[in-house]
Amino acid sequence: MQEAQPLNDLLTRRWSPREYDPKPIEPAILHSLFDAAHSAFSCFNEQPWHFIVATKEQPEHYARILDALVPQNQAWAKDAWLLGFSTGKKAFAHNGNPNRYNLHDAGAALFAMAIQATEHNLYLHGMGGYDPNKARALGVPDEYEVGAAFAVGHLKAGAVMPPRKRNPLAAQFLQPGWTTSPLVSQ
Ligand SMILES: Cc1cc2nc3c(=O)[nH]c(=O)nc-3n(C[C@H](O)[C@H](O)[C@H](O)COP(=O)(O)O)c2cc1C
Repeated sequence: MQEAQPLNDLLTRRWSPREYDPKPIEPAILHSLFDAAHSAFSCFNEQPWHFIVATKEQPEHYARILDALVPQNQAWAKDAWLLGFSTGKKAFAHNGNPNRYNLHDAGAALFAMAIQATEHNLYLHGMGGYDPNKARALGVPDEYEVGAAFAVGHLKAGAVMPPRKRNPLAAQFLQPGWTTSPLVSQ
């Protein structure tokens, strides 16, 4: 059996808290999170994502995004400095065919943002718990799917990352035929 290699530090430290401190994120640092999403890969390099975002400095916009979340998420997300929604363009710009990777790619961009957030000791928490009609009413055109909502902010003092719960790796990496792969030892 091979010796386990350490995971990248940012991947190890990333997690999704429900305890935020509402203090501001410096604009340059916030911008670096957007740059991270901007750098993500995508099918045909179409970058099918658009993100709707607002910070607490834009209280009306922030309130609209918060209001689109289910109450259970509002309860903690209200303390995050930035709230947002990911969206993905349903059709490829280059030929008009359906792009079934649109939210796949938006998710990749969101994950890049989460990793860049971790670099700055900030935390991004994705949310599927939102009202789809209210999310759509944020101005998302019909040509776009709404993906996930998300919150980004500073961690509340004392909040502790819980142990990660994950399904076995061997159940996630298979070989063709949907059987256990010898590449995965556990
Ligand atoms: C698309 C998506 C939807 C999610 N929806 C919610 C949600 O509505 N509420 C919530 O508290 N967490 C939500 N989560 C967070 C997950 O529960 C969390 O990522 C998962 O438990 C793994 O924990 P970790 O991110 O701390 O590693 C969501 C995450 C993703 C990626």
